Amino acid sequence: MKNMEEFYKKLAESVTYTKKGNKYRAGGFDSRLSLIGEGRSACAFRIEDSLKVLKVYYPEFYEVAEVETSIYRKLSDVHSFPVFYSSGKNYIVIDYIEGSTFFQCLTHGIFIAESVIHEVDKALQEVVARELRPSDIHLHNLIMTPEGTVKIIDVARFNEEKDCTQWNDLRAAYFKLYVHRLFPKRVPAVVLNSVRLLYKKNLLKI
Ligand SMILES: Nc1ncnc2c1ncn2[C@@H]1O[C@H](COP(=O)(O)OP(=O)(O)O)[C@@H](O)[C@H]1O
Ligand SMILES: [Mg+2]
Repeated sequence: MKNMEEFYKKLAESVTYTKKGNKYRAGGFDSRLSLIGEGRSACAFRIEDSLKVLKVYYPEFYEVAEVETSIYRKLSDVHSFPVFYSSGKNYIVIDYIEGSTFFQCLTHGIFIAESVIHEVDKALQEVVARELRPSDIHLHNLIMTPEGTVKIIDVARFNEEKDCTQWNDLRAAYFKLYVHRLFPKRVPAVVLNSVRLLYKKNLLKI
């Protein structure tokens, strides 16, 4: 196992970030990594020939590695979260989740079944039962797998004090809008991003 730890550490050290405005971009990284996602606090890389993801935090967010590690440990028996393997100063290693984020489902026209919504509800009840608070549950942090089940990624903010209503609002939008027969099959990314912007500015009520 020690060898694997060294390997992950080496891969994480290979990642360099550059900052433009307040946005980080991955510059260089080991050829065994492929960039699969960019978030607010980190980029996610798939490790070659594996079903694992290396999430490498941006310089200002190193301390999140420890926080996210402790939360993943508390959620280790809840199957709607990726399995956690390892972590270091600026990274964590978790299961690679194959599938489409809810954002991609909407933009590509992949149907999100009601059962998936209930699955998220159940997983979040488990989160609460472990004295954590679901937070930051948005379209990019929910992945629908090819088997039609759901995985929730990005648990870093689950021990924040404040109540987060994002999931309740998404859930309400699902039943009020998404299931409506006139709801468009595909929603352009620019529309989703604009809706999110309005939502964040508190200019939208569902
Ligand atoms: N385990 C994973 N499997 C597949 N894709 C992932 C995984 N982790 C992250 N991603 C992709 O990378 C993006 C950013 O990762 P995320 O953990 O949400 O970072 P942040 O905490 O900065 O928001 C996600 O929105 C998703 O598209
Ligand atoms: Mg995220």
